[in-house]
Parts: sequence; structure tokens; C-alpha cells
Amino acid sequence: MQIFITEDYEELSLKASKIIIGLVKENPYAVLGLATGTTPLGLYQRLIEDHKKNGTSYKHIRTVNLDEYKGLPPEHNQSYVYFMRKNLFEYLDIDIENTYIENGVAENELRECARYDRLLKGMRQDIQLLGLGSNGHIAFNEPNTSFESTTHIVNLTESTIKDNSRLFNDISEVPRKAYTMGLKTIMQAKKILILASGANKAEAVYKTVKGEVCEAVPASILQTHPDCTLIVDKEAASRL
Ligand code: GLP
Repeated sequence: MQIFITEDYEELSLKASKIIIGLVKENPYAVLGLATGTTPLGLYQRLIEDHKKNGTSYKHIRTVNLDEYKGLPPEHNQSYVYFMRKNLFEYLDIDIENTYIENGVAENELRECARYDRLLKGMRQDIQLLGLGSNGHIAFNEPNTSFESTTHIVNLTESTIKDNSRLFNDISEVPRKAYTMGLKTIMQAKKILILASGANKAEAVYKTVKGEVCEAVPASILQTHPDCTLIVDKEAASRL
């Protein structure tokens, strides 16, 4: 794993954006695996600025997102479809038809997982962007998810519900279930870029990098990926 420790969140976002922009320029037909959460927001802002200023084009880019809350329709302001549109897609020249994510309101859970897996089989990610949960989760793969997992439905842990409740009016509104890309599928990406910022991620960063590779810490599997880059700010790196 290649590790970069930055002075602050700004520098982290800039560094991450350079990696994505470089890849898009090199391969205008790339498949980008994207993530939600607050951590990638600075990076997305940089991509938008670069698109405006330098014209980097996303016309032929396809994207696959990691996860989606079960039960939230696309127009819900906490759905991840909505998040991606409002924080990135609306400001790029990307064809919205080329952006893929699980359907939170699919009628049949198993069929929805199978549909997404079929899609992902034909769209290996040139890069997969990840945030890190404070309990070591990646996407919504909570502790003790099988390393062999593909797309599945998850019961969110209390700690994740609590972490994510800051974005909802009330903790009771946070969905208890979500669809997520599995760990096996994440690991199939040609390159992985994982970002973590802030002191509340320090423990998870430490376990991800220095801990035992074990299912209790989902992100620890990244130690075995042949091309994984971790960018962390000083605070998140404080235990390394
Ligand atoms: C959620 C998302 C993850 C994300 C994590 C961390 O649980 N499903 O993909 O990485 O939160 O979020 P944040 O970046 O806001 O700390």
C-alpha cells in the first residue's frame, strides 16, 4: 500500500483529485468507482473546478457507486443517487445514463443484488475510490463481512447509524439497511484510492494499515491489493 500523509484536508483533496484527473485524461473511457460520505466532497469540488477551468471531459466516462440506502428513492435528499448528482454529476459533462448505483427501492433485494453484480462484471473499475468508516468499514461492508462478498444487503451497525445520523434531521430517519458492493468486487478494481480525514478515523486508519488482515476490519483487506493508495491527513495518520 502506498501511503501519503498530508498537512490537511485541502491538500488531501488536491492530491486525490490529481490522481483521478490524470486517469480520466489518460483514458477518457475509464470506469470510475465512486464513493459518498463527506470525505470525498473536497475531491469532487476539485474535479468540478478542473472541469470548468481546464475542460477535462467526462463525456465517455462511466461510473459505478459503492452503495445505497435501502428504502430511499432517488429524489430523497439523503439517497446516494441524489448525493452524487448534487455534489458531482450535475457539474460535469457526464452522461447521467452512464452513472450506475444500486436501486434503493427495488422490489426484490436478491434480484437487485444480482442485477448490480451482472453490471459490475462488465465494468471493472479502473479506479475505485473509498472512504473509511470509523469502525473500519468500506462502502457499507461492516465488520465481519466476508472477504468473498459480492453485492449484498446489509443491516447497518449502531455505530454507522450514529455516524451517519449527522446528515439526517433525526437518528430515527437513518435507514437501517443498505445495499453495498461487496469486498471481492471492490478488490477487483485495477487501482484503489482510499481517503481518510480527521482524528475520529485515526484508529481505523491504524488498523487498516498496520493491523492484522481480518474480516473484523473490512478495510484491512486493502493491504493485499496490488495497487492501493491511501491518502490521509495528519490527524487521521496520528496513530501510524
Ligand atoms: C458511509 C458510506 C461509506 C463512507 C463512510 C465514511 O457509511 N457508506 O462509503 O466511506 O460513510 O463517511 P465519511 O466520509 O462521511 O466519514
